[in-house]
Amino acid sequence: MALADTQTVPVPKHIAIIMDGNGRWAKKRGLPRTAGHAAGAETFRRIANYCRRLGVRYLTVYAFSTENWKRSSEEVAGIMKLLRRYLEEALTDMDKNRVCFRFFGDLSRLSPELQALCREAERESTDYDVQVNFCLNYGGRDEILRAAKLYAADLAAGKADPNLTEEGFSRYLYSAGIPDPELIIRPSGEMRTSNFLLWQSAYSEYVFMDVLWPDFREQDLDRAIAEYTRRNRRFGGT
Ligand code: FPP
Repeated sequence: MALADTQTVPVPKHIAIIMDGNGRWAKKRGLPRTAGHAAGAETFRRIANYCRRLGVRYLTVYAFSTENWKRSSEEVAGIMKLLRRYLEEALTDMDKNRVCFRFFGDLSRLSPELQALCREAERESTDYDVQVNFCLNYGGRDEILRAAKLYAADLAAGKADPNLTEEGFSRYLYSAGIPDPELIIRPSGEMRTSNFLLWQSAYSEYVFMDVLWPDFREQDLDRAIAEYTRRNRRFGGT
């Protein structure tokens, strides 16, 4: 029985996922990499919907990193097209899906159309059951550097407290106001953090799984949550 049908286990409030393995999934089938991303986008739809059923409040996904621009222009365009299509659909079905959106990353490098869609999605979707945070042109170091610059500017303008605390600094991150993820999942067998949520992951539980992202199903999320629940979370205490 799926976890969403039993609800015996408390689910994390915030789950983050590195959606990895799309390229390998496509290669195994002799398909272009963009077909892997299209299958990955379908998986994202399923998993976002399942998170809503489970009562997960925040789902943060790594959709495009600051390093992903190094890929072929065809692959980059393919991913951008999938994002555009998804956001257009999401804007139409907002009330049905009950998902709201935030975007982490420097959107200024995206096409003006995609930037406008992101802003519209943020504006139109307030206060729904699940909040999806799309990391787009995102890098953890880039986010921390940006926050430091914003803080320095506020300090110089006399608008910030010179006694900077962790909590105060967090307010300059893209994730301002959102609790840190309790669980970070990386499918595809890779065991790296790849510049994802560097600040926010200080106490997150990582679950690495062998399944490729396009093959990732509701049961895999159940397995990751079960693993998270088994671990004894001590936050550096005893
Ligand atoms: C990593 O797999 C995946 C990406 C860089 C892109 C993720 C994008 C999507 C899932 C589509 C975005 C759209 C929506 C609607 C979420 P990889 O290509 O690095 O895989 P590989 O390591 O097997 O080559």
